[in-house]
Amino acid sequence: MRRTTNRTFKFISLLTISVMFISSGCQSQEPPETTEETRIVVPMELSDKTPEGTFAVVTTEPDITELVTPEPTPTPEYIEPEFDETWYNGFVDPRSIRAQIVDNPNDITVLVNKYYALPEDYVPEDLVPCSHSFDQQLRADAAAAWEQLYTDCLAETGEGITLVSGYRDNWTQQYLFDRSRDKNGLAFACKKNAIPGRSEHQLGLAMDITPAGHDNIMDFFDETTTGKWICENGHKYGLIHRYKEEYVYETGYGVEGWHFRYVGVDLATYLYENHMSLEAYYGKQQVVPWDE
Ligand code: DAL
Ligand code: ZN
Repeated sequence: MRRTTNRTFKFISLLTISVMFISSGCQSQEPPETTEETRIVVPMELSDKTPEGTFAVVTTEPDITELVTPEPTPTPEYIEPEFDETWYNGFVDPRSIRAQIVDNPNDITVLVNKYYALPEDYVPEDLVPCSHSFDQQLRADAAAAWEQLYTDCLAETGEGITLVSGYRDNWTQQYLFDRSRDKNGLAFACKKNAIPGRSEHQLGLAMDITPAGHDNIMDFFDETTTGKWICENGHKYGLIHRYKEEYVYETGYGVEGWHFRYVGVDLATYLYENHMSLEAYYGKQQVVPWDE
């Protein structure tokens, strides 16, 4: 009887311990082993001392496979002068200048003048015909600006405008220079006409503008109703008045009230607001002999 009681007591004890273990959810009182997933990561920059139980972050190494080899700076090419530098009444003969050939002729902001020339065979690839013109063409963006300028000028002033000259090729530019020299003398041509490769008209971005109804450019276009409106508003269409009185010795050309250049709205607005020539923007103002 006593033996049976002892066995019964042991059985009940074991049963009690088992039930307690199961009802505790088999939880261990020991802290869990830290695994990769449970680590708290604190970047070193965010904490000047590493907290207990945390791990400092190792900063990411740069991916050196993404480093790009820089393009070598192109060596400038030049057009050598045909003779010693020659000035006429403050205007230099462009043929006597060693001109640097630009390497970005398609850039709408490119500087082209007596000192910066286009590559010999350059022709813009996106020339399109322009309305309200004598069969003239401009690069597509400049042509779109012209159409909008025409529409708004007519709406605002009640008068239209005509594009007398847009894109010109080498042959036309040579013809104009020679004709000007033969008619008015070399000094006049050096003041007013670019030689082939040195004219903004060959960029397809220059516009010689006259009031509607006129056949040709006029000296004081910038003093007419439409001319004044364009001088004041042209920058909103990406145009700058290129050869102004204040810029004569910076640009190397005399005053041209009719010649506007498309450079895009951002640059045109900057130049307009800062009363700056394109030469001054690039720090490439012409150096005249009396400044040396
Ligand atoms: N009259 C400007 C300077 C040109 O010929 O491009
Ligand atoms: Zn012009």
